Amino acid sequence: MDTSFPVIVERPFVDPSLDLEAEIDRLKRERNAVILSHYYQDSEIQDLADFVGDSLGLSQQAAKTDADVIAFCGVHFMAETAKILSPGKTVVMPDADAGCSLADRCPADVFAKWLEQYPGHTVVSYINTTAAIKAQSDLICTSSNAVKIVESIPADQPVVFAPDRHLGAWVEKQTGREMVKWPGFCVVHEQFTARKLIKLKTAHPNAEIIAHPECEQSVLQLADYIGSTTGLIKHVETSSKTTFIVATEMGVMHQMQRLRPDATLIGAPPDSGCECATCPYMRLNTLEKLYLCLKNLTPQIELDEELRKRALLPVQRMLEISA
Ligand code: 13P
Ligand code: SF4
Repeated sequence: MDTSFPVIVERPFVDPSLDLEAEIDRLKRERNAVILSHYYQDSEIQDLADFVGDSLGLSQQAAKTDADVIAFCGVHFMAETAKILSPGKTVVMPDADAGCSLADRCPADVFAKWLEQYPGHTVVSYINTTAAIKAQSDLICTSSNAVKIVESIPADQPVVFAPDRHLGAWVEKQTGREMVKWPGFCVVHEQFTARKLIKLKTAHPNAEIIAHPECEQSVLQLADYIGSTTGLIKHVETSSKTTFIVATEMGVMHQMQRLRPDATLIGAPPDSGCECATCPYMRLNTLEKLYLCLKNLTPQIELDEELRKRALLPVQRMLEISA
């Protein structure tokens, strides 16, 4: 997979007169497929999905579905996790090049060498990693359970946390324990800056700032609420405030607005010249590609069985702790 940034979007030809929603629905029934979508997908994909969720919710759904085919609208590590959990299912995704800067910048061979410096450490890896990294880990976590997962490890046990340094730093703050951190970051969340947020807050003094823990600590310090995508959406749903400055990928705003039509949602601007924060990998998936992947059952996730079994153990431990 070419992981260089920015990602070039290829648009396969699909007859523009097709009613894609109807075709996807027909293929879904023909294939006995379930469509899983992350909150960072285009709203038209979210609206077609059987389940929309965060990384934890999606892996829980993938583990328990009785569908024959999982059409995974998210990024590669998410579809791969579905295959780790449900090896008997056909797992397809609209665009197999939908990577993730965290997963792609943590190569398995380099990680193995790096780990040699930390014998006896418990290795906690974020779900945003390849199966080859998961196979070298003791525990997997997502942004919604990272604190709980680290707290499940005895306090005197040294911990390595990979690959998101910002999520790791936030977990350190919540748990009061120091960890060895791999220096990875998310290209979307790294673009939010305290300077731009302070400007926005000055213009909207009554707004609540809500942020994903993949943001830098200087950004998180300004946040009134920090949580996973599901956590952020639930917070907006239940908050008594009416204006929110949202520091994460703007796809989450679709569900926020659906649940709180009265709320004003302001996307925190990235410090990149762009006005909106979208994940260039997530957004490789389109309705056309979802239609094609259900029609052709490709691209499919394939995994070496030995690797899958080793990657499964820490994922299962995570699901048990999160149950
Ligand atoms: P969630 O755990 O909220 O799904 O986050 C996944 C992700 O990739 C955030 O950038
Ligand atoms: Fe990866 Fe960041 Fe995109 Fe999430 S938003 S999939 S962490 S690059």
